[in-house]
Amino acid sequence: SSGKHFDSNCMTLTRFVLAEQKKHPEATGDLTQLLTALQTAVKVVSCAVRKAGITQLFGTVGEQNVQGEEVKKLDVLANDLFINMLKSSFTTCALISEENENIIEVETEKQGKYIVTFDPLDGSSNIDCLVSIGSIFAIFKKDGTQQPTLKDVLQPGHKVVAAGYALYGSATMMVLSLGGGGVNGFMLDPSIGEFILSDKDMRIPNRGKIYSINEGYTYDWDPAIREYVESKKNPSTGKPYGARYVGSMVADVHRTIKYGGIFLYPATTSSPKGKLRLLYECIPMAYLITNAGGLATNGKIPILDVQPETIHQRSPIFLGSKLDVEDVLDVIKKHS
Ligand code: AHG
Ligand code: MN
Ligand code: MN
Ligand code: MN
Repeated sequence: SSGKHFDSNCMTLTRFVLAEQKKHPEATGDLTQLLTALQTAVKVVSCAVRKAGITQLFGTVGEQNVQGEEVKKLDVLANDLFINMLKSSFTTCALISEENENIIEVETEKQGKYIVTFDPLDGSSNIDCLVSIGSIFAIFKKDGTQQPTLKDVLQPGHKVVAAGYALYGSATMMVLSLGGGGVNGFMLDPSIGEFILSDKDMRIPNRGKIYSINEGYTYDWDPAIREYVESKKNPSTGKPYGARYVGSMVADVHRTIKYGGIFLYPATTSSPKGKLRLLYECIPMAYLITNAGGLATNGKIPILDVQPETIHQRSPIFLGSKLDVEDVLDVIKKHS
């Protein structure tokens, strides 16, 4: 028999993905290979985050990205890792990164059929104070054999093949959905360097007790959002909700999946389209939340139904427990 402290039959992320692949006899194994490349990138970022050597990775590069944000050293390291690992996996043809103004085209000899959109390092403003950060990705397929065009990468969320995030929190976890297979969480066991299935078939509670929004912008919101958030605090409309806002989308979404509740990043007067980016923040998170039994909307239609028009397009987003998101939609409808 095996040792008491070791599982001789553990379900690694790679094993899980392989098992999924074998359910589809026509599968080539490319998606498994792609996800292995992503795992490598995530492990290196996690290692950089955990190391005492993080002191070398504090701070900015002294440049701004296409979003007009200060670029941090860890943004650059994570971005280089994602790009290099994905290109060398021989499974991708085009990449969209938060940190690159244009589509990253993979060299013809390394091309495969997948398109990957990613936020290599989410929560940049939390790096230097050691608060949880993450990485986010969505995987799409290119139809046809032509070189990838802008049209190929601007796919709506209902076309996603797989999506996930890595959370560099009190532990490192990867949460992944391959669609039909539900949503599953894998904890990084640093002693063996493997992601092990720890959160099987994650389901978001139908209603939560937490609301999550940057309340500093209260005076920049539409009246509907003010009314909804006010109602979560007013004891006369029920037991007040708790407020939690990390400021790293991955951490706020992970808590929302685990504990339930609602996460909101609405339009504000200074960001009339919201802040979060459709292709590599909103769509992958909407895909995961939806596959876990929750809802994700831009206030009008499901995030997964929005047709992207530009690669860095932003969108308002309301996601979380089904009943909580329906509540905010009711208030928005009442005001429109
Ligand atoms: P990033 O660090 O990838 O640029 O993303 C930052 C995002 C997201 O993680 C978070 O939900 C949001 O910015 C917080 O914005 P505010 O500071 O405006 O609340
Ligand atoms: Mn950024
Ligand atoms: Mn982000
Ligand atoms: Mn980022």
